[in-house]
Amino acid sequence: MVTQFLKVEKGKYENLEKAAAIINRGGLVAFPTETVYGLGADGLNETAVKKIYVAKGRPADNPLILHISDKKDLLSLVTEITPVAQKLMEKFWPGPMTLVLKKQKVVSDTVSGGLDTVAVRLPENEIARKLISLAKTPIAAPSANSSGRPSPTRAKHVLEDLDGKIDMILDGGSCDVGLESTVIDVTGLEAVILRPGGVTYDDIKELGIKVSYDKHLIDKSAVEKPKSPGMKYKHYAPKGNLVVLEGEYEKIKDYIKKFPDAGVLTFDEYPIGNKIEFSLGSINKSVQGSKLLFDILRKFDSLDVKTMFAVRPKEDGIGFALCNRLFKAAGGQILEV
Ligand code: TXA
Ligand code: MG
Repeated sequence: MVTQFLKVEKGKYENLEKAAAIINRGGLVAFPTETVYGLGADGLNETAVKKIYVAKGRPADNPLILHISDKKDLLSLVTEITPVAQKLMEKFWPGPMTLVLKKQKVVSDTVSGGLDTVAVRLPENEIARKLISLAKTPIAAPSANSSGRPSPTRAKHVLEDLDGKIDMILDGGSCDVGLESTVIDVTGLEAVILRPGGVTYDDIKELGIKVSYDKHLIDKSAVEKPKSPGMKYKHYAPKGNLVVLEGEYEKIKDYIKKFPDAGVLTFDEYPIGNKIEFSLGSINKSVQGSKLLFDILRKFDSLDVKTMFAVRPKEDGIGFALCNRLFKAAGGQILEV
């Protein structure tokens, strides 16, 4: 298959008509959102949705998010909009937040991974919303990477992973948030965060909603299986071995100095001096670091780096999500020096 690669600029939407036509005839289109690029198919066409799993090499029990362009579109997909869901969607949609609710029958088991719930998101990115409204159907879209690789925050990342496997890639520039959306289970009376992201624990608490993290996010020894099936898989991983270091700057520096050929992922305040070294910006600006993380993990791969060390980010605000993705990329290897 030849993958068409088309640029889209704000306000110039001719290419989106072509993209919507592909979605309507059951094809696959990668498109930008404010979080990461998504790999879209008609969410109500099961044959089309199955193609997503094949193109990504994704396990069949890992459900997809349905993307809508209007809050009203939620009504036909779920059995009930709970009060917690109502409050959250009023405040954070459109935006980097995905809500998990009980699904209606129109949502196939292929989309929901066999669960009785469905994950839905109304993205902020205008290109994404325009595409969904032109296609006149909810668009099922996971991140547009090969399963296990870092999520794509630029169109060229999608091309690296999926060229020849999908019909079209829409290039809308780099993603603003850079980490995937916050996934929140809102089927009950409280909000349970299944995957941390741009909408944070504190953001939710401020609305007067009772909120907690799914156990596996805070307790590494939790044996219960995570409610968000995707969280159990090895993820975001660069090809080499990545270890996260925590401790005082001088100690971290001394430790890494023993490995001059190792790649380093650090912050402006903590220069190490290795040849292959990238900064996530200021350690006090997790928003900026979040935007850069996946791009840098991919840079290590393109430089064929075998060993990498990352300085542990702060965990405040979106920093919690940044740490979550980095720890996963490191396969849980965190070393105190
Ligand atoms: O920001 C995002 O969410 C991006 C963009 C493209 O919207 N999408 C994305 O999709 O990250 P994906 O498929 O890479 O991650 C979806 C996550 C997975 O961890 C999956 O297990 C979880 O959402 N999920 C989907 N449906 C669910 C459900 N019914 N219950 C619990 N978790 C669910
Ligand atoms: Mg993903």
